[in-house]
Amino acid sequence: MKCSLILTAIMICLNSISISAQLTLKQAAENKNKYIGTILNINFFNGENGTNETAYRTIANKEFNAFVAENNFKSGFLLRGNNQTTSNDLLNLTIADINTSNLNKLMDWGTANNSIVRGHVLIWHSGLPTWFEAIASNWNDAEIRQFSAKYIELVMSYCRDYPGGNVDEWDVINEIISDNNPANYRQTYSNNGQNVDVWFKNVAISAGGQGYQSFIDFCFTTAKAIDPIPKLYYNDYNIEVYNRNQNSKNGFLRNMVKGMVERGIPIDGVGLQGHFVSGTMSQTQVDKVSLTMDYIIGLKEGMQSLITELDLRICGNESNLSTQAQEYERILEMALSKKNSPGLVFWGFTDKYSWIPQFFDGCDDALLFNRNFSEKPSYAGVLNGINKVTTPTAQSPFNNSPFIINNNDTTVIPFTEFDNGGSGIAYFDDTKGQETNGTFRANENVDIAGSIVGFTEAGEWMEYTINVINAGVYDLTLNTTSEFAGKANFSINGNNISGTINTPNTGSFSTNYTNTTIPIPLEAGEQILRFTVEQGPINLQNISFNFNNTLAIVDLEPELEEQLELKLYPIPFKESFVITLETFKEAKLFKIFDLSGKMVYTQKHDGENIAEINPIGLQSGIYILSVDYKNEETGIFKILKN
Ligand code: XIL
Repeated sequence: MKCSLILTAIMICLNSISISAQLTLKQAAENKNKYIGTILNINFFNGENGTNETAYRTIANKEFNAFVAENNFKSGFLLRGNNQTTSNDLLNLTIADINTSNLNKLMDWGTANNSIVRGHVLIWHSGLPTWFEAIASNWNDAEIRQFSAKYIELVMSYCRDYPGGNVDEWDVINEIISDNNPANYRQTYSNNGQNVDVWFKNVAISAGGQGYQSFIDFCFTTAKAIDPIPKLYYNDYNIEVYNRNQNSKNGFLRNMVKGMVERGIPIDGVGLQGHFVSGTMSQTQVDKVSLTMDYIIGLKEGMQSLITELDLRICGNESNLSTQAQEYERILEMALSKKNSPGLVFWGFTDKYSWIPQFFDGCDDALLFNRNFSEKPSYAGVLNGINKVTTPTAQSPFNNSPFIINNNDTTVIPFTEFDNGGSGIAYFDDTKGQETNGTFRANENVDIAGSIVGFTEAGEWMEYTINVINAGVYDLTLNTTSEFAGKANFSINGNNISGTINTPNTGSFSTNYTNTTIPIPLEAGEQILRFTVEQGPINLQNISFNFNNTLAIVDLEPELEEQLELKLYPIPFKESFVITLETFKEAKLFKIFDLSGKMVYTQKHDGENIAEINPIGLQSGIYILSVDYKNEETGIFKILKN
């Protein structure tokens, strides 16, 4: 920058002013590469609906860089026929049935303000046109899907193709988990005190009872096919606070999303609504929300976790504005310091237009500005929270270089030497603090005691960066103790490479460390190995790798390998070879033929996940192996005997 001497003096002066000047929320967030969002009621602008809220507009523009429609993207506002007793043909919707001007307004605003736009919501049991349920509740599974697919297609493709505008994130499904205990997919909801069936309830009986799951998968897959660019979210409330109990709403959410990820359903993130009660969001409670976000982020590379509808209502005398400000500060700092949490969205900014008083008796004052659009203490709390945001540490090997695995040494990885990067990135431990005697890596939330990791529970995992020099099959040995029989597995990039490993009950948690060895195939190169406990508790000492000279990896028919998760090694083989097969129970028979087509060997499977095939007396040469699967010849492989 060039300036004259006099100007320089002024510049210095100006600079010091601008340094001490308070940042707006979006400026503070931009400094951290995050966005900060709010619902926006465009109808309050320009005198529409009798309002002309200049202050509303000014604050929205000044403080926020992400926007979501409070109601205008909901089907009640998009499906024409609103307030009528009849509708157009819902099963054969066209774009003429969609009130697209409601979509335009938010996208235009987003473009004009260079902001993120959230699309809320495509499929929901609520926010419907008044006449909708009477029609839709009679639909069968096929009709529900037909409507849903068409609705998703029309709304998403309109936004995708809208000139100059777009939607960055879609809530594909909102609130499909019930509040019951045990939680389940939602079948009813309360409407004016009445329990009403959700309009898509009839999917429940389809797909052999898996109807809800398959309907959810279907909606996400449909959405992805319409527009592959926006992030696709599942959004819900009362899922924020971590709860180990699988029957809790949080537990149900975790299992539901994990299942979707494992089935390869294109879900990019989970929206945690965050309608909290002020006075309840202690640091301990916020840490539990943090754990849920870590769990979600840990599900797959790039998986996002986002607080989508934050407000902190004050009910009765349970809290006050300064407590609320502290709570906001905690939540903002925590949420925006997460990897893959791209921003945070508030459910409004002024108490003048908050849904709270209407929906929660005796509660109010949930937001950042009062009814006259003046900043409340909560505003400063939010700003402080954003300013305290730290960038998460990228994952890296504990000793700065990966564990080297090769074909002539034994590599030993102490379980305690999991990667750097922290919770949700390098490990997930949701029962932290059970081992109290450790000082090693004491700032990590993993139960480390001396040289072991203890109190491991189902679902907990740790990652280790390895560098495999020689591809091949390695004998992997786990060194563990437990007073229970345990189960665990190893995966790379979400692919389970070990199957379930059974670890023994050694009669004690502290002595009798015992080895369990299984063969695992490893490809060459640097990669991240994830160890996951399937059934605990197990106390873990170390993992060692020894190259198995007799085994080598073979490329199989990719189709069958995928279908059955089948691995076969070594090829060429000497005496015997091994097949591992995830869905092994279904396999019936292995047959080996010579090249003239003569069967030279058969072996029945014995029901285990790993079978050793031992075709005694074969000459060296090429043979054909077939795997009979459910009584059909499914797999044919070429094998070579040395
Ligand atoms: C609320 C709106 O704020 C109200 O104006 C409307 O009457 C009902 O819906 N979770 C959600 C939001 O996903 O869509 C809800 O918004 C609040 C709870």
